Amino acid sequence: MEVMFCNTKPCVAKPPMYREAICRMAKNPTYNTDYSINGVVTLKQVSGQPLKVYVDITSQSKLTADSKLRKHGFHIHQTGDIRDTCDASGSHFNPEGMHHGDISSSIRHVGDFGNLMIPNNGKLVTSFEDKKATLFGEESFLGRSMIIHALEDDLGLKGDSGSLMDGNSGAMAACCVVTLVKEGVADDMMKP
Ligand code: CU
Ligand code: ZN
Repeated sequence: MEVMFCNTKPCVAKPPMYREAICRMAKNPTYNTDYSINGVVTLKQVSGQPLKVYVDITSQSKLTADSKLRKHGFHIHQTGDIRDTCDASGSHFNPEGMHHGDISSSIRHVGDFGNLMIPNNGKLVTSFEDKKATLFGEESFLGRSMIIHALEDDLGLKGDSGSLMDGNSGAMAACCVVTLVKEGVADDMMKP
């Protein structure tokens, strides 16, 4: 093994770790629109490398009937307390004290994943990578919640206070808690 120096004493470099997590999306009972939304978000990461996010959800609703509502803000929120509803999940996960933004912006909350584009048939299977959000260390979002909003996230570009806070993405339509799973479980979840 490679020998490094930690606080002047020799120590051994830790090998990279690998983590998988899942998040089972379900409708927010307090959002009283006629719709259903469910599915799973699976997450994979090797420590020090980008997080991989796989989304497989189905939505049946007025959410998808109106083409203006096809984009839906998608974020990690502060807490994983969604025992009764999604509404106690708090604000966007923001350990760095930044304004709201897009996943590709340098100014963003760690929890900002931009929008999910749900097609008219309601079935969305997509994946993306992120260099900011992580399953490791002090800024890990394990145990926090993921939220799909009713409205499009304006990505912090509208210039009003709502835009800088949460992208004006409206009510929480669905949520789930990010749960650590054994290696291989995420792959099993992704099988059709
Ligand atoms: Cu949100
Ligand atoms: Zn945000």
